[in-house]
Amino acid sequence: MSDSSVLRIYITGTPGTGKTIIAKNLSYNLDLDFLEINDLIIEEGLYLGYDIDRDTLIVDDELLTQNLFKKLKANKKICISSGMVLLGLPIDYIIILHTSISILRKRLESRDYSNEKIESNLEAEIMNILFYEFSEFYPQDIMFEIQNDDRNIEDTCNEIISIIGKHHLRVSK
Ligand SMILES: Nc1ncnc2c1ncn2[C@@H]1O[C@H](COP(=O)(O)OP(=O)(O)OP(=O)(O)O)[C@@H](O)[C@H]1O
Ligand SMILES: [Mg+2]
Repeated sequence: MSDSSVLRIYITGTPGTGKTIIAKNLSYNLDLDFLEINDLIIEEGLYLGYDIDRDTLIVDDELLTQNLFKKLKANKKICISSGMVLLGLPIDYIIILHTSISILRKRLESRDYSNEKIESNLEAEIMNILFYEFSEFYPQDIMFEIQNDDRNIEDTCNEIISIIGKHHLRVSK
């Protein structure tokens, strides 16, 4: 990916790893549009219903993927924040955020989550499930794992910007 007018970044990670805060900051620093997938789902009604037991919307994955595909084709400078594994999208970089378990536990405990939900999220982080699910479809050379513990937000963003910069140099040689 050597065209500097194209930069579509997908920021993902287990809940609480900092997707939203990092994606917003990165969008500001790189002059990209920011897109929060959860907001898009609600605003455009891309759900089938509500799962009371899991306290979550039942997303229409197919409709969401179609909608996003069109958005990414039309808008080539965009930074997306989502914990969902969506396949087949024209994305240039997938950034998987990680947070140490003790810190992540504290972040999740400050939310109105059940113990069960906290433990299942921590387990997903320990097992690095998102990495394996994304790597089933996307090439690993566009996937980067970044540690986002309690640190300056700018430091995490600069690490991402530096990786993207190096990658640009590598592919445009
Ligand atoms: N580098 C950091 N240093 C300190 N606190 C951070 C850092 N990154 C994120 N946080 C804090 O962690 C919490 C979770 O961040 P955020 O809401 O961005 O996560 P998320 O991955 O988008 O979560 P969700 O999946 O629920 O949307 C927030 O309170 C945020 O301020
Ligand atoms: Mg978020």
